[in-house]
Amino acid sequence: MTTPESKTTLPLVHLGITTPEELSALFADLRGRFDADCACAHDESSWKQFRDAWLGRKSGVLTLVTDNWLKPATAELKRAVGAGLNELRAHVESQIEARRVAIESGTEASALRRERVDLSLPGVHRPVGSHHLIRQVFQEIEDIFVSIGFSVVEGPEIETPYYNFEALNIPEFHPVRDDMDTFYLELPSSSDKNTAKTPLLLRTHTSPMQIRTMEKQKPPVRVIVPGKVYRRDNPDATHSFAFHQIEGLAVDTDITFCDFTGTIEYFVKQFFGPSVKTRFRPSYFPFTEPSVEFDVSCPFCGGTGTAASGGTCSKCKGAAWIELFGAGMVDPAVYGFVNYDAKKVSGFAFGIGIDRLAMLKYGIDDIQVFFQNDVRFLRQFP
Ligand code: FA5
Repeated sequence: MTTPESKTTLPLVHLGITTPEELSALFADLRGRFDADCACAHDESSWKQFRDAWLGRKSGVLTLVTDNWLKPATAELKRAVGAGLNELRAHVESQIEARRVAIESGTEASALRRERVDLSLPGVHRPVGSHHLIRQVFQEIEDIFVSIGFSVVEGPEIETPYYNFEALNIPEFHPVRDDMDTFYLELPSSSDKNTAKTPLLLRTHTSPMQIRTMEKQKPPVRVIVPGKVYRRDNPDATHSFAFHQIEGLAVDTDITFCDFTGTIEYFVKQFFGPSVKTRFRPSYFPFTEPSVEFDVSCPFCGGTGTAASGGTCSKCKGAAWIELFGAGMVDPAVYGFVNYDAKKVSGFAFGIGIDRLAMLKYGIDDIQVFFQNDVRFLRQFP
């Protein structure tokens, strides 16, 4: 079967075309074929094939028309073939370009459709975390002390017996060590000959930082030391083998017991509210003299010992007071370990158990919940 484009391989005389009318019918046929093929070029690759089939230099339809129809045309027909070819070329080139533009914009449109962002879709919910209650309480306490001129320092959780005990006036075999039994570490011995034989331990309190701070700086000293501490205590509702303390130390040339009580009372009223009352009881720590236990009137029953229901207050067990922390004036013997002149300086120190303080303030019955990472508990303190 001869198709309009297959006719372009033959000269006009072979096709029996002798008049301008026959010629224009032949061109009209070819143009009809082109228009039909053009509509079938839907994508970039079929468009390229189509373009080459019609405009290809070697064997494109227009080249064949030039070679087989125009060049060998008789003198009578030559002008008409030239005119028909020019008209066809203009049509072919404009339509092929128009098709390219249509295909490109179609691809773009479908890409746009594919990549469209639907702003009405609900977003991805990413829950925001919060600080652990212990961290929050640290922050509260730090803010109070920073506001009255203390700075915050931190120290190592792995300590030497010297800093944890001896320099705090707790020699070996001192009975107080029984209360602070701890975890000793088996570490490869140090290459430093001064510390090679020293066993290392997990600090039992933040007090070693009293020594480390005074070793580093001369008076005046006003620091608080938040941190984790460890003891070989069996876990129960008020004991954990890892817990938190905040140490306080103020040393200067003229610090008195009044500065000490004033500072502590200021802190307690800021932390629990202005209505709580405070009291000291004599106590004993080898590194403070005199030493005290600091109590606060029970914030739950208003210091009456009686709950709102009329029964005994379950928090203070009817005592009306709750023990808060240990403190005292720095024992002059401690200054000897840090080359301070005990005749010229004086100061006070305190050590607050943060976990029990947080339990007290937020009405928590069991210290263990701080370490269980149960989000149902943690979410209550956003
Ligand atoms: C000391 O640790 C002293 N370093 C405090 C001190 C510092 C006194 C400076 C004087 C001057 P104590 O052993 O009492 O003291 O512990 C302090 C607080 O730690 C306690 O009041 C209590 O709140 C908390 N604590 C002690 N053992 C545990 C434990 N096993 N679990 C949770 N909290 C504890």
